[in-house]
Amino acid sequence: MKKFNRTLVTTALPYANGPVHIGHLAGVYVPADIYTRYLRMKGEDVLLIGGSDEHGVPITIKAQKEGITPQDVVDKYHNIIKDSFEKFGITFDIYSRTSSETHHETASEFFKTLNEKGEFIVKTSEQYYDAVANQFLADRYITGTCPHCNNDGAYGDQCESCGTSLNATDLINPTSSITGNKPELKETKHWYLPLDKYENDLKKWILEDHKEWKPNVYGQCKSWLDTGLHPRAVTRDLNWGVPVPAEGAEGKVLYVWFDAPIGYISATKELTPDWEKYWKADDSKMVHFIGKDNIVFHCIIFPAMLKAEGSYILPENVPANEFLNLEGDKISTSRNWAVWLHEYLEEFPDKQDVLRYVLTANAPETKDNDFTWKDFQARNNNELVAILGNFVNRALVLTHKYYNGIIPAQGELTDFDKETLAQIPVLKEQVEKNLETYHFREALKEAMNLARLGNKYLADTEPWKLIKTDEERVKTIMNISLQITANLSTLIEPFLPFTANKLREFLNIEVLAWENIGANVIADGHRINTVSLLFEKIEDETIQAQVDKLLATKAANEAEKKVVAPAKENINFDDFMKLDVRVGTITAAEKVAKTKKLLKLTVDTGIDQRTIVSGIAEHYKPEEIIGKQVSILVNLEPKQLKGIESQGMILMAEDADGKLSFVSPDQNIKPGSEIR
Ligand code: 2FM
Ligand code: ZN
Repeated sequence: MKKFNRTLVTTALPYANGPVHIGHLAGVYVPADIYTRYLRMKGEDVLLIGGSDEHGVPITIKAQKEGITPQDVVDKYHNIIKDSFEKFGITFDIYSRTSSETHHETASEFFKTLNEKGEFIVKTSEQYYDAVANQFLADRYITGTCPHCNNDGAYGDQCESCGTSLNATDLINPTSSITGNKPELKETKHWYLPLDKYENDLKKWILEDHKEWKPNVYGQCKSWLDTGLHPRAVTRDLNWGVPVPAEGAEGKVLYVWFDAPIGYISATKELTPDWEKYWKADDSKMVHFIGKDNIVFHCIIFPAMLKAEGSYILPENVPANEFLNLEGDKISTSRNWAVWLHEYLEEFPDKQDVLRYVLTANAPETKDNDFTWKDFQARNNNELVAILGNFVNRALVLTHKYYNGIIPAQGELTDFDKETLAQIPVLKEQVEKNLETYHFREALKEAMNLARLGNKYLADTEPWKLIKTDEERVKTIMNISLQITANLSTLIEPFLPFTANKLREFLNIEVLAWENIGANVIADGHRINTVSLLFEKIEDETIQAQVDKLLATKAANEAEKKVVAPAKENINFDDFMKLDVRVGTITAAEKVAKTKKLLKLTVDTGIDQRTIVSGIAEHYKPEEIIGKQVSILVNLEPKQLKGIESQGMILMAEDADGKLSFVSPDQNIKPGSEIR
């Protein structure tokens, strides 16, 4: 195996168009943090790099929707995201952002280098253009009917109804989301990275030299490589991003997936003048932590960019995770189907390690996994409280009880004592082996096995019984139990840093070196501190409150779906022409006695002055609608309502909440004008 002298750990840069949720934490940031903490504890030279991805079309769409600038959007979410990561103990050496000056410069220079080396193909093609908005449309800005499933809300890059990925030109009846107009095809020039040029090198590098990559990662790469690579555009017609530093590229920016991974380089540059050592030295190891939707970008496109540039190393591993679902459904920012980290921090104060634990124990390492609040509760109560908390508490409380908090010396060891102690280095090795191969669930299980070992040791030796008959023996038992506790504080540190810290406080010790795990790490005569519970039980009510919150989200989403009533069956033109709809002017209005909803209106229909009874009293006061021009169905059969003959119907627009609004001409027009 190759010997490396330093490690550069990168974490996918989350888009700064929303806060981060448990899926982010489980898939990327917790495993990356565990890995980095472990290497640091071993005294290795390691950097953990992160930052916000602040470019791309979704951010511009969000800004447009909210009537603010893209910079406002990213400023808001960058801070929320950064704060959440900090509070969860993700130990970034730097958490930067792609709107930073260094990043713009670095990305721009990177592009220039490739351009000057002739690494791009410049091609003109036809793309959709919104003539009214005066701009080319990103695929996300175009909607239309999916040619596969007929869904008419499909996007230019994908139909979310049937999941097919599309080209904007595949859409039937394409419409610009900016103006609602029909876009036209117009020629535009873009810079393409010829991925095909690197196909053979990538094939060898991944398929032959990196057979050890996780099967999900290797498999996805193989399928891309087997299908064959094609040139990919790395520029876009957009006004948010890093401007393309080339002639004839006005109004164009670098494609977000071109600049984002360069963000790892920019952040390292911002962190240390020594950045090149991490990125270019042959004895540096780079590891990208990402989710499965990012695999192609980190295993194929970014490596091709790095190769094209020529002076950078390639990643040694890309341990991508699959997805974490929530209570059986895909996590979704737009549907608010998520456990948001900033909300968790407020609702479960000081319980960061509980979530870190659950997300690691249930990490989507090999397949998509499901987060449920029931499982969260069970793992807390049955594992953290019952195994880890229970052991530590017994060891420390008994030491206080029997020895006033002073660690007693060991006497002669029994075979069972020796066997128990001998397990510690074995568990350490198991944790190491698993961490070094990115098996974080298994590594956590082995670390927890040390607490299990401690519980078993106490249960088998029963010091609480022996204290009456064999006090000397109890001293040895308690000493060994405290050695296990102290070792636990080291072994769990990468996974549960807050708990490890508490444990050290209880034990009144400093951070212990990783390589010392296994030896007698805590001295006789040492005084421990007062203790409290490491974990507390989570009650059913707390869990129910979270489940209810999700149920409310579901209900709100369902209600939203109903916002637009489904289309009715088609009718023929003759049927339509039977309707006599006219503009009329309301000339008088009064409430119908003993009703809440009805107004009696007099309307000038141009044909006559007539009485119409309308159910709008809860929406309009009689005095505010006199003189209003409205739409009237004049040839509806008259009908008696509360003893009044209603001669026609005022047409109203009604939304899903039952809100009513008149349908009025946008300028004054003669009563009796026909509507058709
Ligand atoms: O999928 C995402 O959320 C992207 N913003 C990840 C970018 S990773 C890197 F390349 F910056
Ligand atoms: Zn479809």
